[in-house]
Formats: sequence, C-alpha cells, structure tokens
Amino acid sequence: MAEFRLPKNSRITKGKVHKADATAARVKKFKIYRYDPDSGENPRYDTFEVDLDDCGPMVLDALIKIKGEQDSSLTFRRSCREGICGSCSMNMDGRNGLACTTAIEDIKGEIQITPLPHMDVIKDLVPDFTHFYAQYNSIKPWLQTVTTTPSGKERLQTPEQRDQLDGLYECIMCACCSTSCPSYWWNSDKFLGPAILLQAYRWLADSRDEMTGERLDQLEDPFRLYRCHTIMNCANVCPKGLNPAKAIAEIKKMEAERAL
Ligand code: SF4
Ligand code: SF4
Ligand code: FES
Repeated sequence: MAEFRLPKNSRITKGKVHKADATAARVKKFKIYRYDPDSGENPRYDTFEVDLDDCGPMVLDALIKIKGEQDSSLTFRRSCREGICGSCSMNMDGRNGLACTTAIEDIKGEIQITPLPHMDVIKDLVPDFTHFYAQYNSIKPWLQTVTTTPSGKERLQTPEQRDQLDGLYECIMCACCSTSCPSYWWNSDKFLGPAILLQAYRWLADSRDEMTGERLDQLEDPFRLYRCHTIMNCANVCPKGLNPAKAIAEIKKMEAERAL
C-alpha cells in the first residue's frame, strides 16, 4: 500500500500557548496558523486564549485583540470591518468566510483559523493574491465600447437592463468562492475559477458593453471556463450570498447560443 507523508519542512508543528488572564471567566481558544517563510521554520499552530467578556463579537475582533495584547507579530489583512472590502477572508473552523462578519458565538468549541486554502502564504493568515488579480485583469473588468455617444454623453440603461447586474456587482473579490472550489484547487493555473467568472459575466450582462463577442471568444476554452463541474461550493460559501455557479451557467448558455 502506498504511504504518503508531507515533506519534513511542510509539516505543521505544535506552537505556543498564550494563556488568558487568570481572572477571565469566559475563555475561548483560537488555534491560529502561523508561518513566516523568512524564518526558515515550519508552520505551526499557536493557541490564544481570549476573554470573551472583554472582546467584540466577531472573529476579527478577537484577532485584533490578540494582536494588540498577546502577540503583535500575528499577521492578517483587514480594513472596513463591515463586510465590504473583502480583505479579511480566511478559513474559520473549516469554512471560508469574512472574519469581520463571522460571529464568534456561531462557532462551537475551539476556533481553528487558517489562510484561504490552496493559496501561497505570504505570512500567517495573508495569502498571495497575485495570480488571482492577474486572472481578474485578464477578463478586462471594465466597460468596453466601440461606438461614441453624441457629445460624449453618458450611456443610459433602462431599469430592467440595470437589474441584470444585481447579484453580480455586489462581489467584493474576497476569493472565498474560488478557494473553496475543488476544480480551482487543482487547475488554478488555467481555470479562472468562480470569482473571476462571476466578474466576467458581470460585463457580459452589462447592456452598455460592446465587446460581448470578444469576451466570449476569450472565455471559450476547455480550462478557462469549462473546468466548472457545478459542484456548488462557491455558492454555498459566498459571504455576500451570490451565486457564481449560476453566472458560470449563464456564460456557458451564451457560448452555446452563439454556436447555433
Ligand atoms: S460550481 Fe463550478 S466554480 Fe462553483 S465550486 Fe463548483 S466547480 Fe467550482
Ligand atoms: S462571489 Fe462571493 S465569495 Fe466569490 S469573490 Fe465575490 S463576494 Fe467573494
Ligand atoms: S474587514 Fe473588510 S470585509 Fe472584513
């Protein structure tokens, strides 16, 4: 029987335990992935005990408290604290989400926190988005036109045309969906993944855009688009309640219709 073991330098070791104050009555444990490629050390899980009576309600509140009071070297991204910027995406208790909109009380027992899966790690909970953003850039996420409007006037939409963008424009590019998609895990070099394909459809669905044919040409590829096998992890995990799988199905439909 074949036996597989991770190479020694990639095994996660047991890290430090940071105790809560002895007077703390309501203690919650956070087991957090720590990795600093510059140190040459293996990744580890550190455990932080947090007094919930002296902490805000969200996972991000706990991370900020830990960084401020227990270990200033803990590294993570955050900005808006409102579920708008998408920068605090991470994996909490096995599920991708936003730390600022995930309530601590919704996760029972110890909370394990890791970076988004299947991405290179820059440090601790900070994944490298370089490839993700390059893929985003590849779909030309801006309005493209060939005609001009009289005296440079704005391009108008009917309310019905504007409605077509609902469920698409709200995406905050957090990558929770792409990094929970098994097809993206194994083919992220070529498959665009749910987040980028939802954005691609956002421009295909825009009545003002005049590059529909070129956009569909660029997506018509066995890997870029058709590696989606409708597994639906993307829709299950999106913190904004969007449905990238549906957007992908709409692109496939557009490709099929123009081939008729
Ligand atoms: S529906 Fe498609 S994009 Fe979404 S998780 Fe499944 S394979 Fe990935
Ligand atoms: S579709 Fe949802 S999960 Fe995916 S990047 Fe956009 S907001 Fe994040
Ligand atoms: S901090 Fe902006 S989405 Fe969480």
